[in-house]
Amino acid sequence: MEKIKINTLSKQYHVYVGAGAIQQVDQDLRHMFNHYSKLMVITDETVLSLHIEQLKQALPASLEVLVYAVPASEQAKTFAIYEKCMTFALQNGLDRKSCVLAFGGGVVGDLAGFVAATFMRGVPFIQIPTTILAHDSAVGGKVAINHPLGKNMVGAFYQPEAVLYDTSFLSTLPEREIRSGFAEVVKHAFIADEEFLENLMNQITSFEQLSGEKLTMILKRGIEIKRDIVSQDEKENGIRAYLNFGHTLGHALETYLGYGKTTHGEAVMTGMIFALYLSMKQCQLSFPLNNFIQWIEKLGYDWKIPSSIVFDEIIEVMKRDKKSVSQKPQFVLLTNIGHPILVEVEEPLLKAAFHNISRTDCQ
Ligand code: NAD
Ligand code: GLY
Repeated sequence: MEKIKINTLSKQYHVYVGAGAIQQVDQDLRHMFNHYSKLMVITDETVLSLHIEQLKQALPASLEVLVYAVPASEQAKTFAIYEKCMTFALQNGLDRKSCVLAFGGGVVGDLAGFVAATFMRGVPFIQIPTTILAHDSAVGGKVAINHPLGKNMVGAFYQPEAVLYDTSFLSTLPEREIRSGFAEVVKHAFIADEEFLENLMNQITSFEQLSGEKLTMILKRGIEIKRDIVSQDEKENGIRAYLNFGHTLGHALETYLGYGKTTHGEAVMTGMIFALYLSMKQCQLSFPLNNFIQWIEKLGYDWKIPSSIVFDEIIEVMKRDKKSVSQKPQFVLLTNIGHPILVEVEEPLLKAAFHNISRTDCQ
């Protein structure tokens, strides 16, 4: 079991990572649970059917546990589902001493965290992530739902009381979701740790290798990188934007294609290749991009920009990105591996990069 302390200006808490992390409810966190009046578990239908009994068994028998399941995947991060969560909480008598448990992947974590941040102006919540991707989303306190015009446009910075990352839940993940989550691991390596990136490229040639102690150590390294950034810049006034490497295009692809059509990690992988291309052109990054592409293709990433996407349209979505200033999209680029910067990129270069990595180049 690994225990990582997250220190932000608004809160200090621990991330417990490893098989059996959920047992912390009855160990390190027992005093915390003693103060809650009720628990509201927000989960999705898939996680409900696979793992809710294991979670319930770990929760204190003395507490009333209410479970609300939302549809699985990105479609749950809507105003309508957010309202349903609030209605459920009110109808079931949740109060300010109640705690929300976010039990699922990044979608549930973001949605439940936003419910917790806003229910009665804020109640405590605990992240209990069940996807690899959520090693990123469950840590650092960004919570949000989507707007039809842009990803995560309605949200808050709201830290959890704890993160219980029990890796035994990950054994039921389909390969597509492993691939999606691994993209965020690769992102953490790109922005902060060249040796970590090299190790990943040398050691992970199939997702079967992502298990047991090795998986725990990889997730731990990703979380440490995120910790180091959010502890310095909780509310993204500066370096936290680096965690958005690959996300300016990634988020725009998710919005443009329709939420849930691509996974978050697939879109981010395409966005990272776009950003690497831009980094090589604009920041003189020296990087063997073709070797990297060969590696991720072996891992099954379909990374090219779909031919249905029109540059003049997706640029408009990128202009609405949260990092944009005066409607000019900003990009996290790399001057070296582990050395990100946030910069504006002129439209002709964006267009060239877009065509270079599109499935067809005839748009
Ligand atoms: P997700 O929550 O939709 O989970 C992916 C799929 O896996 C879903 O169908 C879910 O039902 C299923 N699933 C979850 N756990 C499972 C398990 N143990 N076994 C089998 N199936 C399981 O998606 P995600 O990839 O975890 O998260 C993506 C979301 O996270 C996006 O909305 C993204 O914007 C957000 N995100 C947020 C942050 C942040 O800092 N808040 C960071 C990165 C990503
Ligand atoms: N995933 C981006 C962030 O946490 O800031």
